Amino acid sequence: MNIRNFAMFKQYAAENDVKRCIVRCDLNIPSDIEDLSRIYAIKDTVFEILNLGLKISLISHYKRPVPTDAGNPMFSLKNVLKSLIKVFEKEVEFVRGSIFDLDTASITAEIALLDNLRFYDGETKDSDDFARRLAQFGDVYINDAFSVSHRKHASICAITKHLPSFAGLSFLRELDGISKACANIECPFSAIIGGSKVSSKIGVLNQISKKADFLIIAGAMANTFLVAKGKDMKNSLIEIEQIDTAKKIMKNAKSEIILPEDFLAAENINAKGSNFSCDNLPSGFSCFDIGQKSIEEVIEIIGKSKTLLWNGAIGAFEFSNFNTATEKITKIIAEKTKIGTLISVIGGGETVASIANEKDNMSFVSTAGGAFLELVSGSKLPGIEALIL
Ligand code: 3PG
Repeated sequence: MNIRNFAMFKQYAAENDVKRCIVRCDLNIPSDIEDLSRIYAIKDTVFEILNLGLKISLISHYKRPVPTDAGNPMFSLKNVLKSLIKVFEKEVEFVRGSIFDLDTASITAEIALLDNLRFYDGETKDSDDFARRLAQFGDVYINDAFSVSHRKHASICAITKHLPSFAGLSFLRELDGISKACANIECPFSAIIGGSKVSSKIGVLNQISKKADFLIIAGAMANTFLVAKGKDMKNSLIEIEQIDTAKKIMKNAKSEIILPEDFLAAENINAKGSNFSCDNLPSGFSCFDIGQKSIEEVIEIIGKSKTLLWNGAIGAFEFSNFNTATEKITKIIAEKTKIGTLISVIGGGETVASIANEKDNMSFVSTAGGAFLELVSGSKLPGIEALIL
């Protein structure tokens, strides 16, 4: 794919009067778990730019506020300032105030961080006016937020019409890594798709269920599939409005679909879980992790796979009482990858956080969630299209 890359940026900067670069990054990092992968991911780009003697305006969204949330500290990017300083080991200046009212000439810091882009209506509407204003915070635009390339937002798309625009190093690494992994899928090919919502993964479930030999459905979304098969999942999280979708996915799948047979369930997430088959869950109980039999089945499938794609949490791994399946499955994937019998491609902020200590033992780990899934599913991503030569 011919995209305006970082080498082209360097050449442009050498030949033109560039003083400040706008770097679109993804600082949408989880507030409940310490996972700074998305900050480490942009470090190379940031330091390469600084080494050229240029300054940086960092722009990002953070969570999903609406414009009326502007000023609400819960959604402010000030929440990630300390983490940025920790990872960069450098001062970062947080710029307060509305993007429309700021005097851009007064921003002199080597690295300046603007507040949440989603405080502005124009961002999610891909507004040209908003992009024009945003473009005044630098002379060049660099997109190092591959994980947001599935969003047709002003800081991803419209801004590229107002400034010379290039892809950052982590953007290129992600695009290259995912594209190569998907081009070389060796069979048997298995996929683990977890997380809580069927609704956010319909596209990938439809695609993968036609390509993979084994599709393991885990996380809370498995509950919706089990209800679609007539099981009573008691108090477990279920998307009632997605039951028909789950039925259709199962009906049209070419893959063998594997659903958990048993679970670790409890009356609440802080309680100790007990193992139950999904046929005899006690009333008032919710499933928070897959059970022992299901873990063994997943491990057996991984054992016979040559390629594995994993997105979405298997259980409530943030709680140590419901982290068993994630730990055991991660260990097996890492071991098989290390000895070279498995290509493992892992994507998604939450998934990456869940495999924390084994990240370096996987074939490719993407910090992207939705963008990873859309690229893997074969969709065209607006953020990539905007940078194509
Ligand atoms: C992500 O976490 O996948 C990206 O930051 C995109 O966030 P969004 O789904 O809120 O657009």
